[in-house]
Amino acid sequence: SVPERVRLVEVGPRDGLQNEAFSVPTDIKIAFIDALSQAGFPAIECTSFVSPRAVPQLADAEEVMRRIARRPGTRYLALVPNERGLERALAAGCDALALFAAATDAFSQANIGVSIDESLQRYATVAVRAKAAGCWLRGYVSVAVHCPYTGPVEPQRAVEVARRLAELGCDELAVADTIGKAVPDEVARLLEALLRWLPAERVAVHLHDTTGRALDNVAVALAYGVRTIDAAVAGLGGCPFAPGAPGNLATERLLDFLEARGYDHGIDRRALERARTLLWEAIPGLARTDSPTAQLGSQ
Ligand code: HMG
Ligand code: MG
Repeated sequence: SVPERVRLVEVGPRDGLQNEAFSVPTDIKIAFIDALSQAGFPAIECTSFVSPRAVPQLADAEEVMRRIARRPGTRYLALVPNERGLERALAAGCDALALFAAATDAFSQANIGVSIDESLQRYATVAVRAKAAGCWLRGYVSVAVHCPYTGPVEPQRAVEVARRLAELGCDELAVADTIGKAVPDEVARLLEALLRWLPAERVAVHLHDTTGRALDNVAVALAYGVRTIDAAVAGLGGCPFAPGAPGNLATERLLDFLEARGYDHGIDRRALERARTLLWEAIPGLARTDSPTAQLGSQ
């Protein structure tokens, strides 16, 4: 039988580098993304068109999106928080955008300065304009399981935000364990509720590996039929507005896990290794959590 394909969304350039104290030169970011393209990812999240005061690490979003080499078959995503971000992204030639909402008002306020309702009002306008410009849209629901400010999140709250983002026209909904605190039972409850009305083909999971449970949670997502999974090279990153979110699920660990279970992923591991080497040779101090012996960052 033909092995089942899992789609990896490589978020290292965005969710990884947004969180680094080291400033990565624009040329290195572009070379890194180009090397990731060579590895054959179906989607790469490259940067964010957010306030450069909020995330100075990604202030070069225009140049990155203009200069990367676009491989057919790869979708190049950028985050936008508002209309200003949308205008910048469209001017830079983006055709795939991510809107990012949260399941709690506390996180929403900390991350983008508005409540959930206000953010969705904003995104309604952004989504209409983005769709009119032909963009593909991902919608994130941050803190879908645990919030660093308010604790455990009821699945229905995350599902409600996902539903509203889908109604705005998001093609894919990514539920996020922003601080990596979720246990498999919690992910199961969330997906159980979410998949009651949204097909698994439109769902992605974005798991941080703070407490080492990301792969256990991937197993749950796969069991529920979810086939789109976010990861970051070497476990780069986190979220500067989520205290205690030091690392994304490492792409390499996810690939090992999928291979051991007979899933097809379509990633060229040698090319992936080249991307990783390129970045770490340029910036040796970057945090990495891909192996037990890996050097851990100071955060
Ligand atoms: P604000 O300060 O509340 O808004 O920021 P503002 O509208 O008053 O704007 C303030 C200044 O920012 C103004 O500049 C605006 O022009 C400028 P000034 O006049 O003072 O010089 N500005 C912008 N500049 C460039 N691009 C823009 C933009 N918008 C306003 N798009 C804002 C509100 C949303 C902009 C800000 O809070 C922000 O940029 N937040 C971004 C937060 C962020 O990037 N968080 C990380 C991504 S989310 C995440 O990591 C979670 C995820 O991985 C999933 C998971 O794990 O949960 C996705
Ligand atoms: Mg994240």
